[in-house]
Amino acid sequence: MPHQPAPQRYANPALYRRCGRSGLQLPLLSLGLWHNFGGVDDFATSRALILRSFDLGITHFDLANNYGPPPGSAETTFGKILREDLAAHRDELIISTKAGYLMWDGPYGEWGSRKNLLASLDQSLARMGLPYVDIFYSHRPDPATPLEETMGALAHAVRSGKALYAGVSNYNAEQTARAAQILRDLGTPCLIHQPKYHLFERTPERGLLDVLTREGIGGIAFCPLAQGLLTNRYLAGIPADSRAAHDPRFLKPEHITEEKLGKIRKLDALAKVRGQSLAQMSLAWVLRQPAITSALIGASKVSQIEENVAALNNLTFNPAELTAIESILAG
Ligand SMILES: NC(=O)c1ccc[n+]([C@@H]2O[C@H](COP(=O)([O-])OP(=O)(O)OC[C@H]3O[C@@H](n4cnc5c(N)ncnc54)[C@H](OP(=O)(O)O)[C@@H]3O)[C@@H](O)[C@H]2O)c1
Repeated sequence: MPHQPAPQRYANPALYRRCGRSGLQLPLLSLGLWHNFGGVDDFATSRALILRSFDLGITHFDLANNYGPPPGSAETTFGKILREDLAAHRDELIISTKAGYLMWDGPYGEWGSRKNLLASLDQSLARMGLPYVDIFYSHRPDPATPLEETMGALAHAVRSGKALYAGVSNYNAEQTARAAQILRDLGTPCLIHQPKYHLFERTPERGLLDVLTREGIGGIAFCPLAQGLLTNRYLAGIPADSRAAHDPRFLKPEHITEEKLGKIRKLDALAKVRGQSLAQMSLAWVLRQPAITSALIGASKVSQIEENVAALNNLTFNPAELTAIESILAG
């Protein structure tokens, strides 16, 4: 029996923000399938995370060719949930995927050639059982491939109907400005940029957010919770069911230093004064930037998604709070 979505899921129109100067609106929180949706993960949990998100008004699900493990399996999992539960709701969903990181052997299995991007997109569509994705990204800039070729492949994906919009991820300010110009010239404007942005990662503030505003490109901040560090998850050690304990490919226990924990404890205290959890304050902080359309979260539990969506009840900061945050981060 397919899931029956909550009838009230669009009750709050304030949950959506326009993506740059495009016609597309995205939810303030989007769900990423980097962790917890692979072939090694529990399917019932993955399904519950997607369906609860959708019931709470989250319409955007972000994937990439290599999400798993094994690589590709998150797209397979998502395709199954889509087919079995959400087939009738495809037009309510924004589904993205990306190409650029290592996917298959040989010289064409990664980076930014036309060969890699277009073959990878076909593979992603086959795994998800879709004729098109809503957003197709170049996952990272390729120093060895002309930017014209990579952007030309994105534009081709859009013109061929296999993607509705084009995006870039992990491009710096200068690369983004050039990519935007090329895509505009090709008649397929850059919809969105996906940078890493959170309280401990401020690089986008040094030029990139200005480029996004100037070019009318939406920003979707990935890892807004620093993979769980900017929550109460690690305040009392490393729980056995946490990412750092059971899947430390990217968040390693040695990253959780006493120095960092000292700042996290102070941020947690400040969040409590605001009447929020640290996760909620961290999401609100990312979304305070007008250039950021959406915060792209991950989750391992339905309760985390519910807590994070409740962050949207208080997105404003007074100047004293912002100053206090800066002084905590400065140590
Ligand atoms: N473009 C790129 O290069 C790139 C790179 C990385 C990620 N991304 C995208 O960004 C998405 C999100 O990345 P991420 O999963 O690292 O994001 P994140 O939101 O920073 O971290 C998610 C993790 O934080 C913990 N968490 C979330 N809400 C919580 C809460 N309320 N209380 C306590 N803990 C909470 C969970 O960890 P536990 O598992 O420990 O419970 C969860 O798995 C990815 O899925 C992907 O779509 C893109």
